[in-house]
Amino acid sequence: MQENTLGKGWYGMAGPLFHIEDLHVSVEDKEIVRGLNLTLKGGEIHAIMGPNGTGKSTLASALMGHPAYEIIGGKVTLDGEDVLEMSVDERARKGMFLAMQYPAEVPGVSNANFIRTALNARLGEGNEIPVMKFHRELQAQMKRLNIDPVFAERYLNEGFSGGEKKRNEILQMVMLKPRVVILDEIDSGLDIDALKIVAEAVNSMRSPEVTFLIITHYQRLLQYIVPDFVHVMMQGRIVRSGGRELAERLEAEGYDWLKHELGIEDETVGVQA
Ligand SMILES: Nc1ncnc2c1ncn2[C@@H]1O[C@H](COP(=O)(O)OP(=O)(O)OP(=O)(O)O)[C@@H](O)[C@H]1O
Ligand SMILES: [Mg+2]
Repeated sequence: MQENTLGKGWYGMAGPLFHIEDLHVSVEDKEIVRGLNLTLKGGEIHAIMGPNGTGKSTLASALMGHPAYEIIGGKVTLDGEDVLEMSVDERARKGMFLAMQYPAEVPGVSNANFIRTALNARLGEGNEIPVMKFHRELQAQMKRLNIDPVFAERYLNEGFSGGEKKRNEILQMVMLKPRVVILDEIDSGLDIDALKIVAEAVNSMRSPEVTFLIITHYQRLLQYIVPDFVHVMMQGRIVRSGGRELAERLEAEGYDWLKHELGIEDETVGVQA
């Protein structure tokens, strides 16, 4: 892709691929994300961990432009361009992608049609993928992800098992070839073989043009997808960053030691704002 060739020198020399600065997000007038900073460079994998209800999924949805989440402050840029000014479609076209924690069921829309529409939107006007080529590619990727071919014609996520939904999110990822990949608990509900397949798909996409933000509760995923950075989110912001050893410590010891160190009593974005 032309834009990638252009991009190469740019990411390395001129700054981050994706940058979040002092982001504040509210839902129903309650501030959930409270001053979050994060810099993702091309080629990097960042993991976000954190107890339940600390704003991780809210962050992911807000970045994608979900209308329920109101941005009340801060700045987000992709290649230096203002993401918060972009429509949801534009964000997708620029290569942002979110695999949701709870993928929505969309009755009446076949999985294949959904992905083809999304892919054509991603490619932009005048660059539609020929139908035959699309189906060949789709079938090849489904095979690779061990998804039964009948899932192409089933309605999007309708009646899919938990693990099938997650693998289907990854199918969308490999088909759309995004550049800013946000995976929200992609490991939840996956059996161990599926986890390895998903990890392989993610690892195969690693390149200097792509950056990953992976939200997870478990260190296990990070054994297969080795992160460059691990961040902990509490009270709607990043409270600690480290390498993968941070994930290992959290798995072994939980969050109490960190809360203690930080003087945090309630890590959620609950009642005491
Ligand atoms: N659409 C919404 N409407 C009302 N409250 C919301 C909405 N989205 C998020 N919240 C609230 O924001 C807080 C943070 O939720 P969020 O889903 O971001 O947490 P999380 O860190 O992803 O938790 P988990 O680890 O359990 O997935 C919670 O108190 C939640 O109830
Ligand atoms: Mg969540």
